[in-house]
Amino acid sequence: MKRMLLAAVAAIALSGTAGAETIKVGVVGPFSGPFAIQGKNFKAGIDAWMALNGAKVGDDDVEIVYRDLPAANPAQAKALAQDLVVKESVQYLAGFYFTPDAMAVTPLLEQANVPMVIMNAATSAIVTKSPLVVRTSFTLWQTSVPMAKVATARGIKKVITVVSDYGPGVDAETAFATTFKADGGEIVESVRMPLSTTDFSPIMQRVKDSGAEAVFAFLPSGPTTLGFLKSYNENGLKGAGIQFLAPGDLTQESDLPALGDTALGVTTTFHYSVAHDSPENKKFVEAARAAIGNPAELSFPSVGAYDGMRVIYKMIEATGGKQDAAKAVDAVKGMAWESPRGPVSIDPESRHLTQNIYLREVAKAADGTYYNKEIQTFANMTDPGLAAAK
Ligand code: PHB
Repeated sequence: MKRMLLAAVAAIALSGTAGAETIKVGVVGPFSGPFAIQGKNFKAGIDAWMALNGAKVGDDDVEIVYRDLPAANPAQAKALAQDLVVKESVQYLAGFYFTPDAMAVTPLLEQANVPMVIMNAATSAIVTKSPLVVRTSFTLWQTSVPMAKVATARGIKKVITVVSDYGPGVDAETAFATTFKADGGEIVESVRMPLSTTDFSPIMQRVKDSGAEAVFAFLPSGPTTLGFLKSYNENGLKGAGIQFLAPGDLTQESDLPALGDTALGVTTTFHYSVAHDSPENKKFVEAARAAIGNPAELSFPSVGAYDGMRVIYKMIEATGGKQDAAKAVDAVKGMAWESPRGPVSIDPESRHLTQNIYLREVAKAADGTYYNKEIQTFANMTDPGLAAAK
């Protein structure tokens, strides 16, 4: 450290400016296994950002160091983050698809002097675990409150909730139920499934038997969301007139080809549709599709990663490349920009994004591809879950 400092002082004395450094960003995500497409989307978003904005901030080079975490595994997440900090000397930690992984890493940040930019994990409470957490994704509270409003507006009175039994599932259930009940609706049953559940037929039977007019569901996007929606169709719930309500995790774009026409008309609430109509999104989608290779695989984790990189670049700029986590995080509080998803800003208190949430409907384009068509906007939502998380 002392030697590095002396070398830096010498460099400044010689040239009048600090020498160029390489700033490393450690990104943890599912790059193999059943959730590999989600990790591929992190990388596509990061690559798109760097293709459009370069791999340098000022004189400093930015280098991304990837670590693979195929499934939710807090102990492994912690070990990977420690390794990135100690062995790779990363100045920033980013990525994190699953909530339990992000939660496990928050206790390391202050001692390591490293900010964490969460590109997906969506349980409201994560940002309260360390002042060095900034999030560029969404929360289940942000997406589920509008869905409850939509259900009420449609005249639905009785709903059964079905969620994965972990952080974001519990948040989705609580957000939906609290809002729906406050507006006069009834939750007839609340089902929590283990994350590992793959056979949904027994659950579909419970939904049918519950007497509900609609099912509100959340599972983390991946093979099981596809399985869940397929099971809803195959078990005749749609035919029985039981409406499907969910946040957009359930109709991510990469699942739509496999769902085909059965998904047409399914409505969800979410922060990002690949089809969002704006110049900013067109530019992003073009770069991200080039990065991911197969355009049909592009989905929401890419936009969390793209915006996360914008935040990290701002942090590097604000600290002049020096490792100062508190200064880096302070510099992005209140930051506002036009994201591919729409206008966003970082709430200075929560360090989470204020953003629009859209009601969307699965539709078919003229070329036969499926997309999430935005039909209503819930503008400028802060995270309603923060009060609940405290
Ligand atoms: C999470 O674990 O926080 C998570 C994962 C996937 C989603 C949403 C939330 O689609």
